Order: sequence, then C-alpha cells, then structure tokens
Amino acid sequence: MNEEPTIGIIGGSGWLGRSIALAMLDKAFVQPGALVLSNRSASNPLTSAKWSEVTVTSDNQALVERCEVVIVSVRPEQFAEVEICAENRLVISLMAGVSLEDVVQRTGSRQVIRAMANAAAEIGKSYTPWLATQQVSEEQKAFAQCLFETFGGADEVFSESHLNYLTALVGTGPAYPALLARSLFQHAVSSGLPPAIAQRASHAVVVQASQLIGNGRSVDELLQALISYRGVTAAGLDAMLASGFDKTIKAGLDSAASVASSMNPFAHSADTKEGPMTR
Ligand SMILES: NC(=O)c1ccc[n+]([C@@H]2O[C@H](COP(=O)([O-])OP(=O)(O)OC[C@H]3O[C@@H](n4cnc5c(N)ncnc54)[C@H](OP(=O)(O)O)[C@@H]3O)[C@@H](O)[C@H]2O)c1
Repeated sequence: MNEEPTIGIIGGSGWLGRSIALAMLDKAFVQPGALVLSNRSASNPLTSAKWSEVTVTSDNQALVERCEVVIVSVRPEQFAEVEICAENRLVISLMAGVSLEDVVQRTGSRQVIRAMANAAAEIGKSYTPWLATQQVSEEQKAFAQCLFETFGGADEVFSESHLNYLTALVGTGPAYPALLARSLFQHAVSSGLPPAIAQRASHAVVVQASQLIGNGRSVDELLQALISYRGVTAAGLDAMLASGFDKTIKAGLDSAASVASSMNPFAHSADTKEGPMTR
C-alpha cells in the first residue's frame, strides 16, 4: 500500500460521503488530486475552489481503476446498482446492515472493512467502530483507523453481531439526545415556560451541561455526586428511574439492534452468523 494512496468515495455527494471527503481534505489526509468522488449525476458536492482538483465521475468502475482505497457510501438498497470489480483494493463499506460477506461478493475484493459512522462526521465527532476481513493487513488497518479519526474517534471490533449492535447504538448519531431534548422542551412548555426559553434551557442541558460527562470522572461517579445532594436532582433522577427509564432505553435499543441485524437487503446471507471472512 502506498503511503498516500488514492481514495475514492462511491456516493461521495451524500450526507456521509461528502462529510468524510471534506474531513479528509481539511485534515490533509488526502490531497485533492488523489481523491475521486462518484454519484449517478456526477454533480460536484465540493463547491469551494480550494478543492477544484478533486475528480467527480458518474462511472464507478473508473473510480475503482484510479483508487487503491474505495469507500462505499451509498444507501444499502442502492448498493445493488453499484457494479464494480475492486479486486486487490481496500474496500471500506459504510452501509448499515450490509454484511462483510456481501461486500466481498459484490465487489470482488477480499480486503474489506465494514464501518459504522454517524451523522456527527459532519462536525468531526463521529464514533466509528469497524470490522475487517482476515485478508486486511495490519498496515491497511492502521490506515483505516487514521482515516476514521479524520472525522472523530474509532475502534476495531471483532464480530459482525457487535457491529450490528453498534449500528443501533452509535449509527443513530444525535437521535437519542435529540429525543431527550424534545421531551425536556415539551415538558417545560407544558409547565408554562415561553417556548424560546424552554428551547434554550433544554438545549443547554442536553448539549452544554452534558459535556461534564467524561470530564475527569466516570458517569457513575458523576451521577453519585449529583444524587448525594438528596435534593432536586436526586428527586428527578429517582422518579425517572422508578418510572422505567432503563426499561425504555432497553426497549429502544433492542428494537433498533433487531432491525440493524436483519435489514441486509442481500437476503442470501442476511443472517448474523459469523462468515468465514470474519474474525
Ligand atoms: N447519514 C448518516 O447519518 C448515516 C449513519 C450511519 C450509516 N450511514 C450509512 O451511510 C450510507 C450513506 O448514507 P447517506 O445518509 O450519506 O445517504 P445519502 O445522503 O442518500 O447519499 C447517498 C449517495 O449515494 C449516491 N448514489 C446513489 N446510488 C449511486 C450509484 N449507483 N453510484 C454512485 N453513487 C450513488 C447518491 O448520489 P446520486 O443520487 O446523485 O447518485 C448520494 O450521493 C448508507 O448506507 C447508510 O446506511 C449513514
């Protein structure tokens, strides 16, 4: 593998593909002349003149021919239309629910990484767990880890079922905090607060105050410190827990994880068993 390989993103104008392209360019992880993006219309998602050397094409195979690393960032159901032969390339799939085996079969590459990024890639704050076939070299893994770190944090995981579970937990990005923010907002409004104040207050709690999490002490220590006041905060937390807060979270994650492990549009290998390529 070259130290600075050419990188292609199939679906490079989408929400995730464009975010990743911009993150890699901003961090100088890839030079503009070594980046190729594809989509069906060949429309350029990078409007800045700064990135004019980036190639945009509607020919996915032409992208593959030019690139050592091929990122697939189309929607899972759109993957059926992507006909490429990417033998001897490192293929990185960002598609939810599409198994490693299916990416191997449909791209012809045995060096495949399946990763689960989230929408926070747009602001460089995704958390991206990833899983590799046995044929991916240590050098390619180190490269992929650095690539994912251009838009947040990342960890290698070692089973397809863990990646499917993490699709439900982190692939959802801002969804769960957004639900909490809406719930807090709605309660504040129903308690008589002006909507503008209710919105700023709920946002301050979910987005700002939550930054104390992981700031020097564990979540348990933080909760214990807050509960130990035995006052307003403890009353709120106790009532939420007694009303089934943990059960609600469990129901949501169980449901999302079940969909994530059964959504593979390529039904012939849609089970969650570990395939021969998977560690
Ligand atoms: N967005 C997220 O927060 C998120 C989170 C976790 C996982 N993911 C995964 O990331 C993948 C991309 O999601 P997204 O939200 O970025 O989707 P998106 O915004 O709909 O982008 C899809 C992109 O694929 C292009 N495309 C579609 N068919 C194509 C084809 N045959 N050849 C080349 N390009 C093609 C589309 O452009 P044209 O229409 O112009 O072809 C578009 O640029 C999905 O598989 C999803 O499961 C996304």
